[in-house]
Amino acid sequence: MTTPLIVANWKMNTSLDQAIMLARAAAEAADRAEGAAEVGICPPYTWIVPVSGEVRGSSLRVGSQDCAAHAGGAYTGDISAKMLASWCSFTLVGHSERRSIHGETDEIVRQKLHRAIDAGLEVILCVGESADERETGRAGAVVLHQLDSALDGTALSFTKRLTIAYEPVWAIGTGVAATEDDASQMTTLIRQDLDTRFGSIGEQVRVLYGGSANDRNSAEFLAANNVDGLLVGSASLSATTFASMVESARVTA
Ligand code: PGA
Repeated sequence: MTTPLIVANWKMNTSLDQAIMLARAAAEAADRAEGAAEVGICPPYTWIVPVSGEVRGSSLRVGSQDCAAHAGGAYTGDISAKMLASWCSFTLVGHSERRSIHGETDEIVRQKLHRAIDAGLEVILCVGESADERETGRAGAVVLHQLDSALDGTALSFTKRLTIAYEPVWAIGTGVAATEDDASQMTTLIRQDLDTRFGSIGEQVRVLYGGSANDRNSAEFLAANNVDGLLVGSASLSATTFASMVESARVTA
């Protein structure tokens, strides 16, 4: 059994003061849970540096919400994985808001994943189906396709730096989480795919659930089969809610 991983994704929220306050609280929660759960936060780009300084010495891990698809050069507004690697230990890649709002294709997600690997970052690859895809019985096929295209050409040695986050699009920011059974069914499918792809080494890859996870459902998700942690949006903007989710991971572990 792997140590559960709880990751906060603050998206484009927080002032600097709020970010520092949330980061301090998350660092305290991470230290309390040390050994039983791992905890990470993904602040907006501009807060990554001050927040990193604030939590240095704690077991809290700082990550990025995204990285550029290119290694460097004339890409106005982009931040490269290599720049991020000075401050972050991991990055999200392929979040559904990047895919749907910013038009990121599977190919762009694949490029970003490879830039992150090259820069030495760990990667949380986000996958998930839309409401329409679920209703028409295509959830499994869509998620497997997203995995397949992003992981194409990935070396076995990378598995220890890889995490998958299953985040059904219809559950993100809606207050309507997947049921534990539905989440578990999909994370199990992902786990089987990883086992086929990477062999026994695929067991190192954690599979998280994300989508309206909160302090009322976190313990049940964490107890569900093949759910190795949570990616948390809205609920991570409350220091106490996020801390109690981390605590539920510590207790469940
Ligand atoms: P949510 O977001 O917890 O607000 O649903 C999750 C995510 O986007 O990672």
